[in-house]
Amino acid sequence: MAKLGLIGFGKMGQEIARLAEQRGHEIMARFTSENPLKASTNVDSIDVFIEFTHSGAVVENVRTVAQFEKPLVIGTTGWNEQLQEVEKIVKGTQIGLIYASNFSIGMSLFFKIVENAAGLFDKFEDFDPFIHEVHHKMKVDSPSGTALSLGKILLEKINRKSAILPGTSEGQISPEQLHVTSTRTGNVPGTHIVGFESEADSVELKHTARNRSGFAMGALYAAEWIIGKKGGFTMDDFMSDLIK
Ligand SMILES: NC(=O)c1ccc[n+]([C@@H]2O[C@H](COP(=O)([O-])OP(=O)(O)OC[C@H]3O[C@@H](n4cnc5c(N)ncnc54)[C@H](OP(=O)(O)O)[C@@H]3O)[C@@H](O)[C@H]2O)c1
Repeated sequence: MAKLGLIGFGKMGQEIARLAEQRGHEIMARFTSENPLKASTNVDSIDVFIEFTHSGAVVENVRTVAQFEKPLVIGTTGWNEQLQEVEKIVKGTQIGLIYASNFSIGMSLFFKIVENAAGLFDKFEDFDPFIHEVHHKMKVDSPSGTALSLGKILLEKINRKSAILPGTSEGQISPEQLHVTSTRTGNVPGTHIVGFESEADSVELKHTARNRSGFAMGALYAAEWIIGKKGGFTMDDFMSDLIK
């Protein structure tokens, strides 16, 4: 059983709280934009923080948690440009931090499937890869952090692709570009398609999140795992440990 501090109590924070209580964890504090975590907050009773807020709040939250020398799980997406700054804070303070753009265990396995598939399609130039993702209309970042992570895998594995083209293409795209598109609609928790198109046929790999509980459960497993560890970790480190 762990004593949790939840930073952000929106859709994800609330789902994490619901599942945490079922798993026997205790929620010691909930921080929101009206009641943010501050250097002066007493957090003695908290074992681990879980952060699901918005991109603009992440660095400040990491800085504050680092001052407390407590471990932290970050699920917030859309802050890739601040990644180096966060890594610097983690190195400087040696707290334990795990970040994933998608904490779903099913999605982690999907990443591995996509990595293997991309290695195969690399050998066959007729196949042109693409990524399409669909999310609820309240989502602020686009493409999703997960689509960008999938894109990174394709760029690493497929030699003929070297750059992501997000959003609508204005005219023809160049052969080295990987088109990553998004649709925002309704209440969709998150759907990602990785496709490989050839003249003769089409191969599609698809992950569909049914609700938010897969993300919330993965973040809780990660919170249990990060306690007692030091340094920066990704979902890959965590999954490698789970399936070893
Ligand atoms: N990694 C994953 O597996 C995963 C899965 C789903 C979503 N996400 C990401 O997680 C983030 C949150 O998603 P969500 O659906 O929960 O969004 P949400 O419903 O909008 O909730 C965000 C919450 O963060 C609060 N907040 C904003 N600034 C804060 C601060 N400085 N301190 C404390 N709380 C603050 C907001 O409070 P106010 O409303 O008062 O501003 C709001 O309650 C997004 O970046 C989303 O893309 C990640």
